[in-house]
Amino acid sequence: MPERDALDAPDGRATDVGTTRFNGPMRITPVYYYSSASGLVRTFAERLGRPVYNLAEREHRRSEVDGPWVLLTPSYKTGNDRNDTIPEAVRRFLRSAHNRRELVAVMGSGNRNFGRHYQMAAREIARRSGRPMLFEFELAGTPWDVEECQHLLAELDEALAARHAGVA
Ligand SMILES: Cc1cc2nc3c(=O)[nH]c(=O)nc-3n(C[C@H](O)[C@H](O)[C@H](O)COP(=O)(O)O)c2cc1C
Repeated sequence: MPERDALDAPDGRATDVGTTRFNGPMRITPVYYYSSASGLVRTFAERLGRPVYNLAEREHRRSEVDGPWVLLTPSYKTGNDRNDTIPEAVRRFLRSAHNRRELVAVMGSGNRNFGRHYQMAAREIARRSGRPMLFEFELAGTPWDVEECQHLLAELDEALAARHAGVA
């Protein structure tokens, strides 16, 4: 019997996936995010109602995931020749081959004022990793953004549970 941890849903919850029903705790996919001192992404992440980990904290940046996870990153245009927009903490976390393998989807926070650089970091990671862009929003998001994102992540939890049970 595996030990339960913060990522598990309450015991014994039944999960419906299409017409297939299976029992057992459904894993809640964690979101690893980066947020700078302005904290806009953190504000959004903490409203999701699921385990979230800030890669600005060394402890999380240096950790390895225990299963599928979702990345949420802002874009930060550096202004240098290459115009990198991926935060260093995100690069550091993705240096782990295990973390890269377990990544299932990418989400981004940006600001449309940055024009062609809008959401560049999240979109570049999605493109390079071959993972889908699950959700994009501006700044700390609106209440609608939070709700929409909660729904999308709940659907992802179910899809991953079905995959784990071998029915998808
Ligand atoms: C210096 C700077 C550069 C930014 N560059 C971009 C960018 O290239 N593309 C984009 O979509 N947003 C850009 N943004 C907007 C941030 O990604 C956005 O405000 C995000 O919500 C910040 O999250 P945080 O406060 O959690 O760090 C930039 C913001 C700043 C301050």
